[in-house]
Amino acid sequence: MMKIIQVSDQLEGGKVAVDILRRKLAEGAKTLGLATGSSPLTFYKELVDSDIDLSNLVSVNLDEYVGLTEDDPQSYHYFMKENLFSHKPFKHSFLPNGTSHNAEEETEAYNRILAENPVDFQILGIGTNGHIGFNEPGTSFDSQTHLVDLTPSTIEANARFFETIDQVPTQAISMGIANIMAAKSILLFAYGKSKAQAIAGTVSGPVTEELPASVLQNHADVTIIADAEALSLLNN
Ligand code: GLP
Repeated sequence: MMKIIQVSDQLEGGKVAVDILRRKLAEGAKTLGLATGSSPLTFYKELVDSDIDLSNLVSVNLDEYVGLTEDDPQSYHYFMKENLFSHKPFKHSFLPNGTSHNAEEETEAYNRILAENPVDFQILGIGTNGHIGFNEPGTSFDSQTHLVDLTPSTIEANARFFETIDQVPTQAISMGIANIMAAKSILLFAYGKSKAQAIAGTVSGPVTEELPASVLQNHADVTIIADAEALSLLNN
């Protein structure tokens, strides 16, 4: 079941998400699946400012760029430290290791971590092409953690965080669609006009690997927090 909550802005979205998290924690959630990108930022800010205790929880992140070290300011390790972990540490936080010499081994190791730490509550953003994590259009719904070649459109979209587009890594290690779908409940943030088409397809388009987020129609507990612009191409 998909539930859509329209919010007036990202600030409200972050607050609503923290309320949902509180409920999930009261229901016994122990492992949080986390995402990077700008969309979850207000959620992390509200979480940091809240009285919620994360020190007995485990977090697992969706993805990491290949080739960036943990202390590279563009890495997702760094992003998570900066926006959440340094303020509120978890008992343990897992992210894929983007500097592993053997990406194949790293993806297998990450799948084992996910098997040992099943996600209760998964945070997602969405790419303008409908990607979730770094699962680009065409990725199998059966995919587990894998090495990804980023599409030109994703490289372009993420170039704003780098000085030049040449600095954007061309590969990433990402949880697969099957890993994401295994989460007990999922919360997806989408803000702004650039997400409107992807959200329309996610909610009411055909379930197709050409639009990875459309798979969420098959999940039992998905909430979408979005602003009016991101919802603007939905019929009602
Ligand atoms: C990147 C991340 C995704 C994220 C997407 C959208 O590609 N790997 O996890 O959802 O960007 O980012 P933003 O929320 O900044 O629009």
